[in-house]
Amino acid sequence: MNQTITGFSEQHSVPVVVESFRSTPDDRLRTILASLVTHLHGFVRDIEPTDTEWQQAIDFLTQVGQRCDDTRQEFVLLSDVLGVSMLIDAINNRRSTTATETTVLGPFHMVESPRRPLGADISSDHDGVPCVFSGRVFSSNGTPLPGAEVDVWQANGSGFYDVQQPDIQPERNLRGLFTTDSHGRFWLQTVVPSFYPIPHDGPVGALLKATGRHPNRPAHIHVIAAADGHATLTTHVFIEGSPYLDSDTVFGVKESLIRPVTMVDDPALAAHHRVPNPFQLLEFDIVLDRRQAPR
Ligand code: BEZ
Ligand code: FE
Repeated sequence: MNQTITGFSEQHSVPVVVESFRSTPDDRLRTILASLVTHLHGFVRDIEPTDTEWQQAIDFLTQVGQRCDDTRQEFVLLSDVLGVSMLIDAINNRRSTTATETTVLGPFHMVESPRRPLGADISSDHDGVPCVFSGRVFSSNGTPLPGAEVDVWQANGSGFYDVQQPDIQPERNLRGLFTTDSHGRFWLQTVVPSFYPIPHDGPVGALLKATGRHPNRPAHIHVIAAADGHATLTTHVFIEGSPYLDSDTVFGVKESLIRPVTMVDDPALAAHHRVPNPFQLLEFDIVLDRRQAPR
């Protein structure tokens, strides 16, 4: 048998390599490495890559690393398009049936949202159809949550975030951190976002192209909602009727998160929101789970 003195062979690769990590003091790290080796060797056995194919795989991962810097995280994009980000989200957010569903954070929450008063207009470039965005934050037992923080960020009507167009969009455009009123309500003025492609001029874009997949996400507004004694929720509200709701390239859409933008003819409500009547309205109530013990 073609064996080295370590006992390594095609048939015995897994136990030999797992054994090499036997003395890892951190139990969790040892468990992770054993699983990684088992699955990775299984993958290689399944694929039986040629030397050239393995070199291509290494080159691809090298390019992914080389596209990462302070404003671009190509590894996160890779995790997103492979569905790993949404799987990790699902594993870490097993919630009560009443709580609002979660979805990916995405790479564009890279700057802090400015604190803004209720009713503020977060669009300073006015690129898009004006719209009021409002809702209430509740605890999972139905109690409204005053003083909850609602962090909102979104692309403009052309499908770009401020950080993607630093020379075009004003800083902190379409971002805001709001605090709910005594009834748990929040409201703000904004524009209806557009669908947009994830950054696809790098190796992840090349992967999508080579596999005939498009790079687009349906129109959405990102929300992080936080309240004392409750699990912080990271989610989106998706715009009903947007293209790509059925084929989000990062698998982030959940039916329960889709809402319509409706034309409202209500002079009193328009006056409350300080907008001309009639106006476009997007409503999204949020339910937070009471905090569970950390895993
Ligand atoms: C986003 O929604 O901002 C996003 C999520 C995943 C990848 C790229 C963008
Ligand atoms: Fe987004």
